[in-house]
Amino acid sequence: MFTVLFSFFTWITIKMSGNKERTFIMVKPDGVQRGLVGEIIKRFEAKGFKLVGIKMKQASEELLKKHYEELAGKPFFGGLIKYMLSGPVVPMVWEGLNVVKTGRVMLGETNPADSKPGTIRGDLCIQVGRNIIHGSDSVETAKREIGLWFEDKELSDWAPAQQSWVYED
Ligand code: RTP
Ligand code: MG
Repeated sequence: MFTVLFSFFTWITIKMSGNKERTFIMVKPDGVQRGLVGEIIKRFEAKGFKLVGIKMKQASEELLKKHYEELAGKPFFGGLIKYMLSGPVVPMVWEGLNVVKTGRVMLGETNPADSKPGTIRGDLCIQVGRNIIHGSDSVETAKREIGLWFEDKELSDWAPAQQSWVYED
């Protein structure tokens, strides 16, 4: 009996923690300037993901260099930092089942020219250096990026009324 109950609660915990995966999504300065913040939020909301954090911010050079530290050796790094410094960005945290991987699919490829229609980059932008949106590439990266851009108290743990209409259980 104890084993059955233990297995049941473990299963519930694993299922629920899956639904609680989080990713870091950010509208870049060109997305903000072009008035695409609403369109991008609309796509994540309509999919069924839950918004748990959002703000507008003029990022510092120090923060952006930390955010993109893995790309520091790339020839486009200087241009990337300048682009990201060119205006305010809209950092967000979205939560849901497989949200990191699905979020990347919704974004499309790094280069909009390789992105399929129906994806954000495929529908809304043209060049790699103006690709309007960032999304975490793994669960580990998402944790690091969320910690970099948000304090814990800026994230809301809330239960959407539509939850049982988005997930089977
Ligand atoms: P992001 O981190 O912004 O979501 O983009 P990503 O994972 O799809 O691509 P990543 O390799 O991490 O590159 C970060 C951003 O750098 C710019 N980039 N420019 N000129 C180029 O060849 C080039 N390659 C990358 C893009 O803004 C890209 O999103
Ligand atoms: Mg990346």
